[in-house]
Amino acid sequence: MKLFSSVNDVPDVQLLVKEALRLKQNPYAHKDLGENKTIALVFLNPSLRTRMSTQKAALNLGMNVMVLNMDKEGWALELRDNVIMNGTAVEHIREAAAVMGQYADIIAVRSFPGLKDRDEDYNEVIFNKFVEFCGVPVVSLESATRHPLQSLADLITITELKKRDRPKVVLTWAPHIKPLPQAVPNSFAEWMCRADVEFTIANPEGYELCGDFTKGAIITHNQHEALADADFIYVKNWSAYEPYGKVSPVSEDWMLTNERLKITNDAKIMHCLPVRRDLELSSEILNGSSSIVVHEAGNRVWAAQAVLKRMLEGLG
Ligand code: CP
Repeated sequence: MKLFSSVNDVPDVQLLVKEALRLKQNPYAHKDLGENKTIALVFLNPSLRTRMSTQKAALNLGMNVMVLNMDKEGWALELRDNVIMNGTAVEHIREAAAVMGQYADIIAVRSFPGLKDRDEDYNEVIFNKFVEFCGVPVVSLESATRHPLQSLADLITITELKKRDRPKVVLTWAPHIKPLPQAVPNSFAEWMCRADVEFTIANPEGYELCGDFTKGAIITHNQHEALADADFIYVKNWSAYEPYGKVSPVSEDWMLTNERLKITNDAKIMHCLPVRRDLELSSEILNGSSSIVVHEAGNRVWAAQAVLKRMLEGLG
């Protein structure tokens, strides 16, 4: 594997999930694989889980890890070609990415969307420039439109905890105070559409995700209807795809409470974290037995380790 940016980079999703679950049982079985190999984790935006879980995964495989908080410690990057760099950008991404590729065997990049120019975000301009210029395999640590390591961890979690062969999984929109990217819900939808689950998306009118990510999903504006008989409920806010990046008022209350879970099949509640308590998701749910958000975050290690193992095997 030379690129991990979406579910489309994975030939057999179920095999990768099984690999991750094997690694969870025996984390140090491949400690020699990463010997004398280095991964650079490059963050253009903040992170807790992605940073720590990917570091842990690389260490479990015996790799060396370098972390660069590009947004705080790196030079400001120019992305455009054919511009005179007489503004705030100090270094062009062509040189920056190519130089990183001299120091690392694998580069992993986090870059959020600007939420202003849909074409720029959905063409993954920043992430794709890293891929184009660094010259080594690249892992997405969340890009403008997808968060594949999160989605793989989510699928690992559902596979581990499901009580029936084909569980009902619901992705529900939740309230927030600011416009958030569509990367997590896009990605979750894309992975669920490839998994053996019954998948429903519930969102208010005006918050439809881009159709490219939701083919095969049932989509409804009725959260109550969607929750009926659900086994897993994935809670997440996102801003509108159309008009892009905007937040329009929602009259109904979309925050989940224990009362709303009564019609589910004893559903487990998921969220990628960080979560704003009592805005996106109620404290009573987060503090209760239905929440599996910490378990889910723990599985980020095995998702990252399975992907890095595939990449290391490809390095030879
Ligand atoms: N879920 C997730 O990616 O968390 P971080 O932003 O803290 O990495």
